[in-house]
Amino acid sequence: MTRLVIFCTLLLVGQSLAIKKSRVRKFPDNFIFGASTAAYQIEGGWNDDGKGLSIWDVATHMEPSPIIDASTGDVAADSYHLYKRDVEMMKELGLHFYRFSVSWTRILPNGFSNQINQAGLDYYNRLIDEMLKNNIMPFLTIYHWDLPHKLQQLGGWANPNIVDWFTNYAKVLFDNFGDRVKMWITINEPKQICYEGYGSTSKAPMLNYTGVAEYLCSKNVLLAHANVYKLYDEKYRETQNGSIGISISCTWMHPVSDSYDDHQAALDARQFDWGQYAHPIFSKDGDYPKELKLNIGLKSAEQGYRKSRLPLLSTKEVALIHGSSDFFGVNTYTTKLAYRDPSVDGMYPIPSYMDDMSAILIKDDSWPQAQSTWLQEVPWGFYNLLIDIKRRYNNPKVYITENGWSTSGGLVDEDRVRYYRNYLNALLDAVENGCNIKGYTAWSLMDNFEWMRGYTERFGLYEVDFSSPQRTRTPRMSALVYKEIIRTNTLDPTYEPENDIAL
Ligand SMILES: *[C@@H]1O[C@H](CO)[C@@H](O)[C@H](O)[C@H]1NC(C)=O
Ligand SMILES: *[C@@H]1O[C@H](CO)[C@@H](O)[C@H](O)[C@H]1NC(C)=O
Repeated sequence: MTRLVIFCTLLLVGQSLAIKKSRVRKFPDNFIFGASTAAYQIEGGWNDDGKGLSIWDVATHMEPSPIIDASTGDVAADSYHLYKRDVEMMKELGLHFYRFSVSWTRILPNGFSNQINQAGLDYYNRLIDEMLKNNIMPFLTIYHWDLPHKLQQLGGWANPNIVDWFTNYAKVLFDNFGDRVKMWITINEPKQICYEGYGSTSKAPMLNYTGVAEYLCSKNVLLAHANVYKLYDEKYRETQNGSIGISISCTWMHPVSDSYDDHQAALDARQFDWGQYAHPIFSKDGDYPKELKLNIGLKSAEQGYRKSRLPLLSTKEVALIHGSSDFFGVNTYTTKLAYRDPSVDGMYPIPSYMDDMSAILIKDDSWPQAQSTWLQEVPWGFYNLLIDIKRRYNNPKVYITENGWSTSGGLVDEDRVRYYRNYLNALLDAVENGCNIKGYTAWSLMDNFEWMRGYTERFGLYEVDFSSPQRTRTPRMSALVYKEIIRTNTLDPTYEPENDIAL
């Protein structure tokens, strides 16, 4: 039944794409492809074998639940037990690498490095060894949002001591996995951690301390990242010979009109959204972008604060953070339109990140819409982003560490196929225009727990049946298309997978 459905619809997809762009394009030699996941979203085993509680364990068990379908990651895709099947899928796709994250409390149950949980180390050793046995390179994210609850009780990312706590945790990972892991991400998506978790309620710990906590967090995230980079650089690089960077989520913000104000609104929005984290690390002189310092400084003064709500970086801190990345990990999904309209001042809480930014962000209804309300397909926005990163930060080495599309489920995911093809086509345009892009990572290898949206939004190349005890994984049409892109190292918009979903 499924096979028949796939066969019929594939012809249609192939045809419409063929009209748009029939050119077969090649990726650079040595370009690498992977897929990504995060510990809390797939592992399950939330209290197995000595694991401690993270802020997501706490958030998902709150009554009433803040998760739209009241679900949890208690079992999720059960990768804590099914990691061998996960590696099989990587092999089926022909991935060069797999980007996964480590659960801090699986290794350090109370967050501190005085007590190491051997069962946690054993799990990641098994996973890493299974990947290497199959020629898949492990690409390890040290922190992907599941902060130890114990550390949150002390303020989490708003407490400057987190720089030490995080560095001690990272050291345990370098000591135990660095002999085999050569690609590292310190921290995944600072903006989502800080703005969404501390400056609003859309991620754990849902602090909503608007206009204040997200900037305390921002500074501590940057310092924690830079301190871990320095540790790797000084103590591990010589013997372990790996690369270490950061993944920053970047949304392309496009001015609604050609007016000066709208251009400035789009620029401010980019600087708040990702320049806040990228500028201190990748720009020529480091430090926060001037738009950020200016806007928050002015608003803070108007509001009667004695100094800016954005804690400034000292000369020493600027120097520590500057250049602290071997590559720029770009997570990107979509584009938004930005404009400025002083008459709507006060539409956001005061103080807040959005009020400080003073840009209004909207969607364009003509852009294809994913299951996630925030996600629309805008390949030219992806292209603009890559060119802007090249220009602004002196053409850094870039890995796309996340990119993908959500549906409500189903194996025939033509819109995901179209999204991947159009985004990869834009990526190739950027490469042709000199962007130094080394690799691409699809989000995600499989369906998983999509944070506040629970299991209602599916990002997987593989569908996961969350109602089956085995959490059965089945490749979607997009998995077959991605496999062929990797196998041939080319983008062929007319390619139609065999009439067979078995890989
Ligand atoms: C978050 O805080 C702001 C005030 O800064 C308030 O207006 C808003 O309602 C709060 N949101 C939630 C979900 O509590
Ligand atoms: C370090 O890795 C690079 C490739 O990333 C390789 O060319 C080089 O030979 C390695 N050096 C050592 C000492 O292993």
